[in-house]
This record gives sequence, structure tokens and C-alpha cells, in this order.
Amino acid sequence: MEERKVPRHVAIILDGNGRWAKKRMLPRNAGHAAGSKNVEKICAAAWDMGIEYVTMYAFSTENWSRPKEEVDALMKLLHSYLKDCLKTSKKNNMQVRVIGDISKLDKDLQERIIELERVSAENTGLHFQVALNYGSRDEIKRSIISIANEVKDGSLLPEDITEDIISSHLDTSGIPDPDLMIRTSG
Ligand code: IPE
Ligand code: MG
Repeated sequence: MEERKVPRHVAIILDGNGRWAKKRMLPRNAGHAAGSKNVEKICAAAWDMGIEYVTMYAFSTENWSRPKEEVDALMKLLHSYLKDCLKTSKKNNMQVRVIGDISKLDKDLQERIIELERVSAENTGLHFQVALNYGSRDEIKRSIISIANEVKDGSLLPEDITEDIISSHLDTSGIPDPDLMIRTSG
């Protein structure tokens, strides 16, 4: 078997947008805007290299505690990004999936996400995961609640809970674990 030279799944934690802007005497939000423009390039380059899965950690559960102006600007950016992403997914045959708890996002954003996932579901190019309102403990919490509900209604016995059952309740169900994690700041 030929040895694999590129990772199959690369996960990227977006960071350093503010520092990038500060260095150029620009407002933080200009850094976020510049960062979001790079995403499409990164996805295309990843696919060209033979990477099959890219996960982008874009907005964490902790990011809500940033100043309101910054959160508002990030949500606005997300709005226009999702619009662009719909086009990109068509153009590049990319399958998009959002991980995280989207129920806390604006109704309008939620609808955009559902639409994007629906229209790109059968695409066979890059599998692109975007983490929005994502936190690992929050993901675990939500999976435990859903497992607990199955135990409560009698469809699952506690002693039958396996690692596979836990995996299948995570947002990342069906997605191979990342091979390489990149944090985009100094
Ligand atoms: C990442 O850049 C963007 C988000 C997390 C939304 P930062 O905003 O964390 O940039 P720094 O770390 O302040 O430079
Ligand atoms: Mg940061």
C-alpha cells in the first residue's frame, strides 16, 4: 500500500485576527474580515493537496463574552460568509456541515446553515466542517443529554453504552478524527 503523505483531516482553530489587524493599525474587525476571505483559498488548496476533511473552528461558546460590537460584527461577517459559502460549495463540489449548537444563533443564520447543509449534502469534494457556537464540553453535554433521553425512554440500557454509541451522538459523528491541528496565530 502506498504511504499517505498528506493528512486526511486538518482542523484549523482561527486565531490571531486581532493581532494581525493591530500590526497594520487596523480595527480588530478588519482582521476578522480579512481572515474570513482566506477560508475559500484554504479549502481549495487543501483539496488540491489531497486533504479530504477540513474543520474550521470559527466561533466558540466562549466568544460570546467578547464586546457586543465585536460579536455583532462577527455575526454579520458570518452572515455574508455563509452566503458566499453556498456558491463556493456548488463551484467546488464541497460538502458543508456545521458543528456546534446553532440554536443560539439568529433564526436567519440558522436557516442559512440548514439550507447550506441541505444543498451540499450530496457533494463529493472536500468535507468542510465549520464550528459555530462550538465548545467541546458543550458538545459532550449535548451528547450526554441525548443518550440520557434514550436511557430514560427505555431504548438504551446504561450497560450497552459503548464508545461507538458516544461517537454517534457527537456533532462529528461519521467524520474521521483530525490528523493535524493548526492554530493560526503566532
Ligand atoms: C480569531 O482571532 C477570531 C475568532 C475567534 C472569532 P482573534 O479574535 O482571537 O484574534 P486575537 O487572538 O485577538 O489576535
Ligand atoms: Mg485569540
